[in-house]
Amino acid sequence: MPESGLMKPEVVRAGSASELADSVASSFAEIITQAVENRGVASVALSGGSTPKAIYNRLVREDYLNSLPWDKINFFVSDERCVPLSSEESNFGNAQRLLLSKIKATPWCLHFPSGQETDAVRAAQAYEKVIIDTVTGGSDAVPRFDLIFLGMGPDGHTASLFPGTKALDESKRLVIENFVPHLDANRITFTYRLLNAARNVIFVVAGEDKSAVVKEILEGSGEKYPAARVTPKEGINTWMLDAAAASKLTT
Ligand code: 6PG
Repeated sequence: MPESGLMKPEVVRAGSASELADSVASSFAEIITQAVENRGVASVALSGGSTPKAIYNRLVREDYLNSLPWDKINFFVSDERCVPLSSEESNFGNAQRLLLSKIKATPWCLHFPSGQETDAVRAAQAYEKVIIDTVTGGSDAVPRFDLIFLGMGPDGHTASLFPGTKALDESKRLVIENFVPHLDANRITFTYRLLNAARNVIFVVAGEDKSAVVKEILEGSGEKYPAARVTPKEGINTWMLDAAAASKLTT
């Protein structure tokens, strides 16, 4: 794993989708094992969308299922749609169905913005309090996740930090509700203040439709995209890409 600090992100280019899932699962295992050894517990935020599903399927195979300290991991989501957990659109609901229900996760270690389908403002406030109460702070008292997974959309959004939305400018809150006009929907999202306090951030990006933005962000001119503003202050930022998402990179 690369050195921490405001360095250029580490880029891991996997080939196929299954090779990407293998690489991500291996990094997850390494980071979690280290965190539990060092601090007795690990705090992980899972990303949303469809890309994580292959990773969940990889993590529930025997080798990881029987070897990782699952009961010492506090799971969160780095953003959530304002829908019931039962919805296919629910990020935590999908994590619950594909991963958390298959491991020895104990109820106390499962955290998600409850009530988000009805009142995004109150759900974001409550979720922020759970994070503050559960995840130990770093030097500036901001809760410091051991690992935050993020995806990226073709427009360069990450979590629910979409271009042109209010949450991009939030500098105090750790979690905030964010209305996304083109979706005509409220979301709940980690803010940059929380994201950039993490020990490890791993972007997992797959697909040709993201390759142009991946190139702009990783090779220089992409600072306008929300995903480019995730720069962990004292953490390690890694982009793990499948061949299609990495196809326009020159290095
Ligand atoms: C969400 C997200 C979002 C997602 C990207 C990539 O709730 O939609 O968290 O940031 O990670 O849109 O989504 P895919 O993995 O489906 O391409």
